[in-house]
Amino acid sequence: MNQMTEEGYVTEDGRTIGGKLMEMKHISLRFGGVKAITDISFDIREGEIRAIIGPNGAGKSSMLNVVSGFYVPQEGEVWFRGEKRPQMRPYEVARQGIARTFQNIALFEGMSVLDNVMTGRLTHMQTGIAAQALWKGKAEREEVENREFVEKIIDFLEIQAIRKTPVANLPYGMKKRVELARALAAEPKLLLLDEPMAGMNVEEKEDMSRFVLDVNDEFGTTIALIEHDMGVVMDLSDRVVVMDYGKKIGDGTPDEVRNNQDVIDAYLGVSHD
Ligand SMILES: Nc1ncnc2c1ncn2[C@@H]1O[C@H](COP(=O)(O)OP(=O)(O)O)[C@@H](O)[C@H]1O
Ligand SMILES: [Mg+2]
Repeated sequence: MNQMTEEGYVTEDGRTIGGKLMEMKHISLRFGGVKAITDISFDIREGEIRAIIGPNGAGKSSMLNVVSGFYVPQEGEVWFRGEKRPQMRPYEVARQGIARTFQNIALFEGMSVLDNVMTGRLTHMQTGIAAQALWKGKAEREEVENREFVEKIIDFLEIQAIRKTPVANLPYGMKKRVELARALAAEPKLLLLDEPMAGMNVEEKEDMSRFVLDVNDEFGTTIALIEHDMGVVMDLSDRVVVMDYGKKIGDGTPDEVRNNQDVIDAYLGVSHD
């Protein structure tokens, strides 16, 4: 990485990354007596692919849930697009342009792929039932636009052949791809992926990696992802936050964190006293 400034930086592969899209400031989150996150700060830059890694129970999913507004931290501030974010419901956060996938797939199993992807579009459906009755034309135009956008995502992720298939009938790797499609249907500015490649075989992982890179490249979407496979992290991400026992123990380019002694110790399971 060249010089990091307020305005951004240029990646090793020559992409221009912008200023801070999201900034977490001194975040702490507890569940009763369990400290899931302790005083963590980091930022996510415009256009960046940012990874969060760490051993099981490190607090990675909790952190992504703070970013998505699902958990409200006891301490700290969340800044998005240069403004401090007030306490928000997850659907309000979604409206601001943040979409996510889950560590455990959350789709409507009995519904078709197409209908599942359409649900991702809900935040864009402006016209309510009453308005639909009054302005039928506008509602229909909106419906057509939404369908067109969804078809574009379906083409992009190469799932045309299964668009009518009930999700329940799909193999695991395809379900993960449909979940990505649903998140993209919301046209997010920031896409959050919680272990998008967990449980996948090598081929499925390669496909998913390619799609993550393509989404970033084609739509300019900023992406934050949690991933266990270090090879995938090294290949995909511009910068990496490393968590262990709820604390941040590393932050930098893949090469920087790979050579960080605290990170090496955490991964080798050196005792923490
Ligand atoms: N909803 C919850 N209620 C209570 N404890 C939780 C909850 N979610 C996470 N935790 C605890 O917080 C810690 C961090 O969990 P998590 O964020 O899921 O870690 P990771 O995603 O890195 O594996 C763990 O000790 C976990 O048991
Ligand atoms: Mg997790």
